[in-house]
Amino acid sequence: HRNQTLKDVNVLITAGPTMEPIDPVRYISNHSSGKMGFALAKAALLCGANVTLVAGPVHLEPPAGCTYHSVKTTKEMHEIVLQLFDQQQIVIKAAAVADYRPAEMATQKIKKNQPDLTIQMVKNPDILLELGKKKTHQILVGFAAETENVASYAADKMKRKRLDLMVANDVSREGAGFQHDTNEVILMKPSGEMKEISLASKEIIAQEIISEIVTILNRKKEP
Ligand code: C5P
Repeated sequence: HRNQTLKDVNVLITAGPTMEPIDPVRYISNHSSGKMGFALAKAALLCGANVTLVAGPVHLEPPAGCTYHSVKTTKEMHEIVLQLFDQQQIVIKAAAVADYRPAEMATQKIKKNQPDLTIQMVKNPDILLELGKKKTHQILVGFAAETENVASYAADKMKRKRLDLMVANDVSREGAGFQHDTNEVILMKPSGEMKEISLASKEIIAQEIISEIVTILNRKKEP
């Protein structure tokens, strides 16, 4: 599938979970494997793009030819993504970012000497929401993993975050979402256009998403 449809185009992709420390040995995270984001990076590389991949802690090999940044927390991801944003044409936020973090990280391991433990959490920055406010020329792509009312939640998110493309998936379905090698998604555009991609490997889904982005990019270039 090698082509040059994204030659000289800078594409920034985020992938994986983030990890929010509670104390030196514990953290809060989620089940994201990073597979979807890494598959997107590969698909963009096959189209000749300059790919920067920013990933949380994952057990995957970065695809050859991309610029790779490994981060732990949402704050770290936020910082690097904002730093790189201006020079990008396309930004795909496939990471499952932790929405909250412990208000403070205990400097020493928390001991089990009390009957209950309460951890105060504070909200993390919503990176994609900020990018939506900041964007000038960039094509912004977001993900929505939902367990109910997928289409309506996703459409609302697309509007609120000013996205050019929303990839929505129902993570309660068999073979879709976290950890799996397959996925099943709905692509949504601000025009109301929708396209369902039925159960397929994350590689195939990634190629479909990238080719949809190429269409959006080419349409943007038209006078
Ligand atoms: O609103 P929700 O978190 O479900 O939106 C999901 C989309 O927003 C994903 O594309 C995700 O990468 C992005 N996001 C983000 N920063 C956050 C939370 C989500 O960029 N703190």
